[in-house]
Amino acid sequence: MRMNSLIAALALSAAAGGACALDIQLPPETATYKDSALPGYQLVQRNCMTCHAAQYASSQPPASPRAYWEATVKKMKKPFGAQFADEDVPAMVDYLVKTYGAERSAAMPVAAAAKPVAAVPATSGKDVKSLLAANGCMACHALDQKVVGPGFAEVAARYKGKESVAAVAAHIRQGGSGKWGPVPMPPFSQLSEADAASLARYVLSR
Ligand code: HEC
Ligand code: HEC
Repeated sequence: MRMNSLIAALALSAAAGGACALDIQLPPETATYKDSALPGYQLVQRNCMTCHAAQYASSQPPASPRAYWEATVKKMKKPFGAQFADEDVPAMVDYLVKTYGAERSAAMPVAAAAKPVAAVPATSGKDVKSLLAANGCMACHALDQKVVGPGFAEVAARYKGKESVAAVAAHIRQGGSGKWGPVPMPPFSQLSEADAASLARYVLSR
């Protein structure tokens, strides 16, 4: 059954004009998206099964908020090249955050299923890995390479010893554009200054 749906998904993607790069590795298990009455469920089935299984969604940190899912879904279009309509995005994000993320109705007990992450001490008392996950930073950034935004190592190389933690924290809270490329970084004004400083210190230490 699983194999059939995998083959169907592959056939579909071929029929859609080979939207996916052929070297994308499928995860070993082809899980399907969880059934739901939310309208985004149908859209996710149609739009998200062509390149990889639902496992990618179900393995995200369960505390991931709406902004994280939105950034993730947008990333599938650009740079990954998914071919769905922009109008589909809000409903898919709504389904994803309510099914796999922070807005699940039974959100709490699953915390144990979160990926184990190394705790990094932070001045705000919150650990940096959870700040990164809760704010969707890694949807656009990686440590060593450019994704949508610059790799954090690149940022550190440019600013270490030249810009203070407070200055980089302000860049994070204000967002910006034009320093690394044409794509803007959205503002994160909801972050407290202490949390932004923890993130800035982490980025500068890469
Ligand atoms: C054009 C192919 C394509 C389509 C369509 C696609 N994805 Fe992805 N997706 C990718 C690639 C490539 C990755 C990165 C794989 C890796 O890092 O191993 C990825 C990774 C992910 C991840 C893991 C988190 C991350 O940031 O790497 C999630 C969650 C995800 N996709 C969800 C979705 C959802 C939800 C949809 C439908 C809205 C979707 N994908 C549609 C190509 C696609
Ligand atoms: C939607 C994508 C996206 C998300 C989410 C995102 N960033 Fe960025 N980020 C970018 C882009 C794009 C740039 C480059 C902007 C530019 O060219 O000026 C950037 C730049 C940066 C910079 C360099 C700022 C500068 O002034 O040069 C830092 C530091 C940074 N991001 C940290 C973070 C942190 C921490 C988070 C999570 C709180 C985050 N980013 C979330 C896309 C994103």
